[in-house]
Amino acid sequence: MINVIGLGYIGLPTALILASHGMDVVGTDYNEELVDKLNRGEVTFEEKGLKGLFDEAVRNGIEFSNEYKVTDTYIISVPTPYDKESKKVDACFVVSAVKSVMKVCPKGATVVIESTIPPGTIEKFIRPVIEANGFVPGKDIHLVHAPERIIPGNMVYELEHNSRTIGADDAEIGEKIKAVYSSFCKGDIVITDIRTAEMTKVVENTFRDINIAFANELAKICRSDDMDVYEIIRIANMHPRVNILTPGPGVGGHCISVDPWFLVGDYPGLANIILAARKINDGMPRFVIHRISQIMKEKGLTDVRRVGLYGLTYKENVDDVRESPTLQMLERMEDGLSGGLVQVYDPYVTKKIVPNQHTTFESFLGAVDMVVIMVGHDEIKQNMNMLSGKVVFDTRKICYLPDVHRL
Ligand SMILES: NC(=O)c1ccc[n+]([C@@H]2O[C@H](COP(=O)([O-])OP(=O)(O)OC[C@H]3O[C@@H](n4cnc5c(N)ncnc54)[C@H](O)[C@@H]3O)[C@@H](O)[C@H]2O)c1
Repeated sequence: MINVIGLGYIGLPTALILASHGMDVVGTDYNEELVDKLNRGEVTFEEKGLKGLFDEAVRNGIEFSNEYKVTDTYIISVPTPYDKESKKVDACFVVSAVKSVMKVCPKGATVVIESTIPPGTIEKFIRPVIEANGFVPGKDIHLVHAPERIIPGNMVYELEHNSRTIGADDAEIGEKIKAVYSSFCKGDIVITDIRTAEMTKVVENTFRDINIAFANELAKICRSDDMDVYEIIRIANMHPRVNILTPGPGVGGHCISVDPWFLVGDYPGLANIILAARKINDGMPRFVIHRISQIMKEKGLTDVRRVGLYGLTYKENVDDVRESPTLQMLERMEDGLSGGLVQVYDPYVTKKIVPNQHTTFESFLGAVDMVVIMVGHDEIKQNMNMLSGKVVFDTRKICYLPDVHRL
């Protein structure tokens, strides 16, 4: 039996896909409300294909519980935020989950950490917990790091098709856990050591952050000197070895905007491009605010209450709002352009989380003269003509109406 601990955006689909491929799975989360909801047959977030996977897993006997189970394999996928001061990983959730596992697990069990962690985390934080419980790591309890690469919006497909990394102390345990993931994963599964697996995952997200930052910095440079960044990127990308990304309003989510900080925190003075990229991407919401003011002035708009932000999530077609550029912007808006005054709407966010949040596209459009496209949800892409007559500031380059304003 596999006990998956932490049933959030990563743990739930992982537990479901294992169960739907014939594994005996219990999903554990300390959030009672979440477990009750799953036991009532409801999925806890919107994701393409998740409900189908859920139904299949339930048919195959998956259980959801608040309790940790006695078994030989645990997969832990709890949050790994960073400490805002030190920028280092805050391993408290992983440590606490492993402590709880230690209370029930038998000798010989394998504990797989799926949560993203920087190099050395298992050595520094997890092995001591095993030892403190009277076990010898690598002999009584085996430790594995199996980071996750899936992207919200395409999780179910990517779970099956992405390649994966497994970091283990010895090859035999690596092979044992590879067999577990091979039950559903059609991609290559590479076995390596734990530190390499930890570093690889963080490096992947850092690579993305740096590339996004480059595009965003170009947008700022081009805006400052009246050049069209999109046309420049389009032409530059015709070079066979150039692939510049599209600028945007900032970086959100639980991964790209978080993981590079781990390297900044752990390698101060060495992680220089990484730090600069984080600052550039974190600065984008403020740049968008500045652009809104410029465009309002240009268009003779004076009433901030008639400016509308479309999109609250950190990416298109998902309901995850963590660290989203729109939320960052609303926090940073001050005085003249107060976050409490602008109108906001997102079709995926039905719970009210900010002031002036509309529940329909129509009511949102009725309340605004200027629409700032913060997220390229399919809804707005498919209804772009409804924006005609509005001043449109498109931070995602998805709107092809005439006179649209860009970054
Ligand atoms: N969300 C993503 O797109 C994504 C992608 C790749 C990797 N990751 C990584 O996966 C990990 C999990 O992220 P997430 O987005 O699924 O987080 P999440 O916040 O959606 O879910 C975490 C779950 O763990 C539960 N939990 C926390 N501590 C617990 C404990 N001690 N015992 C039982 N349950 C506990 C919480 O109640 C929550 O339901 C993080 O390290 C993240 O960086 C996330």
